[in-house]
Amino acid sequence: MYHDHLQAVKATLTEARARRDLQAMGDEMLQIFLTQYPEATATFEGFELDYIARHKFCKVADALVDVLEYPDYSGTSLSEEVSRHQIYDVQDREYYFALVDALVTVVKSSLGDDWDEKTEESWADTVSGFRHNIDLAFRENFDR
Ligand code: HEM
Repeated sequence: MYHDHLQAVKATLTEARARRDLQAMGDEMLQIFLTQYPEATATFEGFELDYIARHKFCKVADALVDVLEYPDYSGTSLSEEVSRHQIYDVQDREYYFALVDALVTVVKSSLGDDWDEKTEESWADTVSGFRHNIDLAFRENFDR
C-alpha cells in the first residue's frame, strides 16, 4: 500500500512538472501561502522571491516524497530543518503545514480531472505523515 502511495505521489509530481512551468507552480504555492499568512512575507525579506518560489517548491516536494520513501530519514531531516529554520525565525508549525497544503493545491489543480481517488488517498497519507514528523520535530526542538 505504502509503495503504491509513493508511486502515485511521485507520478503526480512528474505529471505536474510536465504540464506546468516550475516557476509558475512555485509562485502560486508561495502566493497561496503568503495570502494565508501575510506576516510571513517578512521572513523572506532580502531573498530573491522568484528563486525562493521555485527552489522551495522543489525542496518541499522532496521532503514530501521522503515521508513515504525514507521514513526514518524524513523524521531526522525534518527535525533538522525545523531547527535550522530558527535562523529565519520560522517558529510556527502551522507555517509548515500551510506551505505543504499550498503545494498540494497547486499540484492538484495542475492534474485537473486526472486527480482521482487513489491520488487523493496517496497525498492524504503523505501529508499526514509529514504533519506527524513536524509535530515530533517541534516537540524535539521547542518542547511544544
Ligand atoms: C517542508 C517544509 C520546508 C522545507 C523542506 C524547507 C527547506 C529549506 C531548505 C533546504 C532551505 C535551504 C536552501 C538552500 O540553502 O539550498 C531553506 C531555506 C529557507 N527557508 Fe525553508 N523549508 C521549509 C519550510 C519553510 C517555511 C514554512 C518557511 C517560512 C515561512 C521557510 C523559509 C525559509 C527561508 C527564509 C529560507 C532561506 C532562503 C533560501 O535559501 O531559500 N521554509 N528551506
